[in-house]
Amino acid sequence: MSCILVTGGAGFIGSHTSLLLLERGYEIFIIDSFINSSRKSLERIKTIRKLSNSDFNEKLHIYEGDLRNKNSIKKIFEDAKYMKKKIEGVIHFAGLKAVGESVLNPIKYWDFNLNSTINLLEVMDNFSCNKIVFSSSATIYGIGNEFNLSEDTLISPINPYGKTKAAIEEFLMDIFNNPKGNWAIANLRYFNPIGAHPSGLIGENPMGIPNNIFPFITQVALGKFKELNIFGSDWPTPDGTCIRDYIHVMDLAEGHICAMEKLNNFESKIFNINLGTGQGTSVLELVKIFENINKVKVPFAFTDRRKGDYPIVVANNELAKQELDWLPKRNIEDMCRDGWNWQFNNPNGFDF
Ligand SMILES: NC(=O)c1ccc[n+]([C@@H]2O[C@H](COP(=O)([O-])OP(=O)(O)OC[C@H]3O[C@@H](n4cnc5c(N)ncnc54)[C@H](O)[C@@H]3O)[C@@H](O)[C@H]2O)c1
Repeated sequence: MSCILVTGGAGFIGSHTSLLLLERGYEIFIIDSFINSSRKSLERIKTIRKLSNSDFNEKLHIYEGDLRNKNSIKKIFEDAKYMKKKIEGVIHFAGLKAVGESVLNPIKYWDFNLNSTINLLEVMDNFSCNKIVFSSSATIYGIGNEFNLSEDTLISPINPYGKTKAAIEEFLMDIFNNPKGNWAIANLRYFNPIGAHPSGLIGENPMGIPNNIFPFITQVALGKFKELNIFGSDWPTPDGTCIRDYIHVMDLAEGHICAMEKLNNFESKIFNINLGTGQGTSVLELVKIFENINKVKVPFAFTDRRKGDYPIVVANNELAKQELDWLPKRNIEDMCRDGWNWQFNNPNGFDF
């Protein structure tokens, strides 16, 4: 397998995975509408590749397009065919991901996440491209109070965002079950991706007020916000704050390549796999580690619990280790250091 389509390749996880794919010698086609990302992230990928004197130009094809428009996907497969290339697999990151916004605007989330995926699968099928790695999420799990959430945990999401991810997994199961038996599919259920590429040239680039805790911490450390709000200090955890499974975005990126390479061995296969470290870190621990490793202050204040939060959400990642031969290599200190390196050197993200 040498040629891959990456949807949402300009986004946080997509840009890191695209860089790694190029480093591993893959030729990639990226499609992104830039609705939640900057084209500059792709320029930065080129900069990183240039620094290592690589011939990225022939191997990186960038398309601006919205997956809800089927023709924009078709064009890429046609172009590839014209270039005598065969797109053998797709890594499907494109989608909207803000839980709060999905509650306010469910139609938008079902439209973007579902219709994009249906179009993508239809075009893939028409071009006999039948291998897909899909960005799913731990938010699909119904029970979120565990140190050891395995893949057979009940699927019962509580917000529209999580419901779109669960629905796409069901859709992919139907595709897998078609009598031709010609699809190989990996649903990767991410826990909490943070950190950045060690170069500090690409990283998470939230537009407006960050929805996730880590970019909030980095922006408080920069002085953009006065303090970090910690939602609840009375959870049933050792220090009273929520415990999550943070995973370095580079480890996550490696997980995608392991998954795609694994799918390549099968004509017909479906995997549901957690990508997390299996290590829990509380919010207070995260703040302390971030402060110590980066020698910066992150003022915080406790506020009320947030509706829908769970005290502990930590992955059981045994299946990923067994099936994908994947191991997370970076620890929480690496995540805090690399994430701050990106934010400190790019205080306005890609909009310098
Ligand atoms: N970051 C997380 O915490 C997290 C956790 C679990 C799952 N995920 C999932 O992983 C995927 C990638 O997440 P991310 O953090 O990199 O998000 P991101 O917003 O940074 O990247 C998503 C990319 O998809 C693009 N996009 C969105 N809709 C599109 C469409 N219809 N057509 C073309 N491009 C479109 C956006 O412009 C963006 O570049 C998403 O599907 C997200 O739901 C993310």
